[in-house]
Amino acid sequence: MLGFYRFSMFSFLCFIIFKAVALTQESVQLERDRAALLSFKSGIVSDAQHVLDDWTSSIPVCNWSGIKCNNGRDRVVELDLSGRSLRGTISPFLANLSSLTVLDLSRNSFQGDIPPKLGFLMQLTELSLSSNLLQGNIPSELGFLHKLVYLDLGSNRLNGQLPDSLFCNGSSSLQYIDLSNNSLSGEIPLKNECELKELRFFLLWSNRLVGRVPPALSNSSKLEWLDLESNMLTGELPSDIVRKMPLLQFLYLSYNDFVSHNDNTNLEPFFNSLVNSSNFQELELAGNNLGGKIPYSIGDLSTNLVQIHLHENLIFGSIPPHISKLVNLTLLNLSSNLLNGTIPPELCRMGKLERVLLSDNSLSGEIPSAFGDTSHLGLLDLSKNKLTGSIPDSFANLSQLRRLLLYENQLSGTIPPSLGKCVNLEILDLSHNQISGVLPHEISGLRSLKLYLNLSSNHLSGPLPMELSKMDMVLAIDLSSNNLSGTLPSQLGNCIALEYLNLSGNFLQGPLPVSIGKLPYLGQFDVSSNHLIGEIPLTLQASPTLKHLNFSFNNFSGNVSNKGAFSSLSMDSFLGNSGLCGSIIGMPNCRKKHHIHHLFIVTILLSLFVTPILCIFIYPLILRSNFQRKFAIFNKGDLEEGSKNLKHPTISYQQLINATGGFSPSSLIGSGRFGHVYKGVLQDNTRIAVKVLDLKAAEMISGSFKRECQILRKTRHRNLIRIITICSRPDFKALVLPLMSNGSLDRHLYPSHGLNCGLNLIQLVSICSDVAEGMAYLHHHSPVRVVHCDLKPSNILLDDDLTALVTDFGIARLNSNNNSNFANDSTSFSSTEGLLCGSVGYIAPEYGLGRPASTQGDVFSFGVLLLEIITGRRPTDVLFQRGSSLHEWVKSHYPSRLEPIVEQAVDRHAPPTFPKHRNKVWVTVILELIELGLMCTQYNPSTRPSMQDVAHEIGRLKGYISNPSFLLLEEEVDQPK
Ligand SMILES: *[C@@H]1O[C@H](CO)[C@@H](O)[C@H](O)[C@H]1NC(C)=O
Ligand SMILES: *[C@@H]1O[C@H](CO)[C@@H](O)[C@H](O)[C@H]1NC(C)=O
Ligand SMILES: *[C@@H]1O[C@H](CO)[C@@H](O)[C@H](O)[C@H]1NC(C)=O
Repeated sequence: MLGFYRFSMFSFLCFIIFKAVALTQESVQLERDRAALLSFKSGIVSDAQHVLDDWTSSIPVCNWSGIKCNNGRDRVVELDLSGRSLRGTISPFLANLSSLTVLDLSRNSFQGDIPPKLGFLMQLTELSLSSNLLQGNIPSELGFLHKLVYLDLGSNRLNGQLPDSLFCNGSSSLQYIDLSNNSLSGEIPLKNECELKELRFFLLWSNRLVGRVPPALSNSSKLEWLDLESNMLTGELPSDIVRKMPLLQFLYLSYNDFVSHNDNTNLEPFFNSLVNSSNFQELELAGNNLGGKIPYSIGDLSTNLVQIHLHENLIFGSIPPHISKLVNLTLLNLSSNLLNGTIPPELCRMGKLERVLLSDNSLSGEIPSAFGDTSHLGLLDLSKNKLTGSIPDSFANLSQLRRLLLYENQLSGTIPPSLGKCVNLEILDLSHNQISGVLPHEISGLRSLKLYLNLSSNHLSGPLPMELSKMDMVLAIDLSSNNLSGTLPSQLGNCIALEYLNLSGNFLQGPLPVSIGKLPYLGQFDVSSNHLIGEIPLTLQASPTLKHLNFSFNNFSGNVSNKGAFSSLSMDSFLGNSGLCGSIIGMPNCRKKHHIHHLFIVTILLSLFVTPILCIFIYPLILRSNFQRKFAIFNKGDLEEGSKNLKHPTISYQQLINATGGFSPSSLIGSGRFGHVYKGVLQDNTRIAVKVLDLKAAEMISGSFKRECQILRKTRHRNLIRIITICSRPDFKALVLPLMSNGSLDRHLYPSHGLNCGLNLIQLVSICSDVAEGMAYLHHHSPVRVVHCDLKPSNILLDDDLTALVTDFGIARLNSNNNSNFANDSTSFSSTEGLLCGSVGYIAPEYGLGRPASTQGDVFSFGVLLLEIITGRRPTDVLFQRGSSLHEWVKSHYPSRLEPIVEQAVDRHAPPTFPKHRNKVWVTVILELIELGLMCTQYNPSTRPSMQDVAHEIGRLKGYISNPSFLLLEEEVDQPK
């Protein structure tokens, strides 16, 4: 009995000892994990560390945020810190977390290299470092990760070749590989003996990969998603590979250098190889210069197919009617090919079609009236073909139609009035056809047209309909080169959003209405080659927005001065008007009248006597006011000072009248989309800008004033304009803001006089950085999240020392998302859905598709702004009016043909004091800005960087060029010894 007791005692002791040893063992391991994590934390820059506030000794490691332990709570198995705004480098000590199965640091701003030691994390099944700023090569050590199922390194700045080991490590369990959107080069290293049998997603788009699609990929028979778009891959379309992929759903091969079979003449084998993929949904082969006909078998592809992109190739022949068996197709893009024959009416049996683009081919015959059956159609682009006949009446059924582009065909007949039933039409372009008859009032009354109406170069006759005045959202109207007659209705002045109006080359008579000069955003106005008479209204000259004007070849008469909007015009704008005289160079002088001489003499006499007196009395006053201005309270971006002044909550209408000289035209300094801006001086000498909201325009966006005030009051940032006070009466609403001495960025980029932009690259980078900081604050840090919605150079103001301030939140939207910080009642403005957002050229493409305003939309506009600054071209340039856009134009030069753009930018913006050999620095900076601009303007909103990333990146660039020692280093390297 005793023996047994002793034995039990012994075994119990053994048990205790064993347990204690195990415990210490465990805590040693967890200790190691803790040390590795703390070392990781120390690699994060301090102002981002607050995210990891709970990573302290008082809290168990397993309870730290982003950490998951195993069941025994003795090892860290998951580290997930995605989207936490972390900045810094990735510590190699993470490799000590030897039980880690999941490492997710995606959507942060990590810089530097990927530590090769991560290859020692043998238990890892999921590694995601996507959407950071990582650079350097992909370490070959990652090939040691035999258990890896999910690998995502997309959207970084990785370069160099893909290591062989990555796809070839013996027993690959990889199901998901995403290396897209980097700068990776070389071939895809998938050797024949390597098999990725489990692979379902293979994403390598937007890199610099060359060579063929490796045949060994055909072993990946579970592949569902293959995206190799935008590389430099060559060879025949990979028929033999895709044939082995019955589960394929998405195949993207656009923008490479693939060819079709039999010396680029036969597409049939490739389409045949896809016939058995019964889940197939999207096919993209655009921009490859593929030759051949569209094979009959295209109709035998899966009926699940939703999108086909074959544009920008060399595909010839006709469109096979058999394609209509693809009943689920929503998008068909065959534009910019060599297609001929007629448009098969069967096409319209695909009842789900939303976007049909057949432009820039040689299609002939009539437009099938069956298009009226495609009730979901939103975009129909048949431009640049050889289509004849008239526009079918059946378009009236297309209630979803937003864009109808039929320009550059041989269409005849009249414009069917029934088109007026397309109540969602935003763009109607029928220009360059042979359309005759009158402009039906049903069309001219289309209130929905908010982008443009182009009917130019046709045979339209009759008068301009009065109903044109209903188009109060349209930005551009072009009716030039027709046979229109009658007078210009003064109601045109109601088209308040108009920026472009071209009526040239018609038979219009009578005088120009005064109201046209009052259009608040009109920048271009052409009435040349008509029969107009009378004087040119003074309102045109007084317009602050008009830049391009053409009055030539009419019968205008009277006196024209070279002031205001006319100061930049030459005689070319006035040719062929024998009755005009005045001070434009080349124009005959007007006959002077006598009383002017008298007045002149009186003035001289007066000034002789009065000036000395004025000097004695007034000069000290001016001196004093200058002195006070220097110490005025609203000088620079000090937040506290701004709020101090809000203790005067409102200002009276009379005070504003006094400050602005009764809102005199001479104090008008600009116009935003929804109001005019006047400069003024308050009694205490504060220089102010008074933004008077145009009530008529503001009606369109109810709550705009309230919204802007709310936003301005809640935001505090050195790069956002601060509100001084407001004036609000039922019939008058104005915001009072500090006057920015240097005006808007727009004025500096496009000065009306002189050729040079004036700002150097250091200043421009600093301005971009300021704007990015201000926007990042709006998106990520302000008390209410704000989507600006209308970011463009005229909404960026510059103060004394060229600090940029973002302004004009008139149509900004507050974004109440599910984050509790934002769940504040006063911040929901959902009623703004569907309102015109942004300005042409800067609008994100998804807005056209009815997506709501988003921070990604702002990122897009910012990207356009960057490219605009670099190229010196407005995104609204005529060059970009149709089809292509500024960012697409730049992208088409990227990366190998950028040199002229870069050189031109260096010439324009390199600081004059800098010797030429330092140009290398500027080239680097400009290239980085272009890349950033292209990243921001990516088509897919979700792949654009966040404003915070952008701000961070430009901040880095700003630091780089403002660091003199770096420039010095660069200089030494460059100088020939
Ligand atoms: C840590 O988490 C565990 C389980 O989630 C919980 O029971 C424990 O109270 C937490 N400890 C601390 C100090 O938060
Ligand atoms: C069309 O697509 C829907 C949804 O993907 C699917 O349910 C349906 O079966 C498809 N139609 C045909 C004829 O394949
Ligand atoms: C289309 O073009 C081909 C040559 O590419 C030509 O042989 C054929 O006759 C044309 N068809 C029509 C209808 O014009």
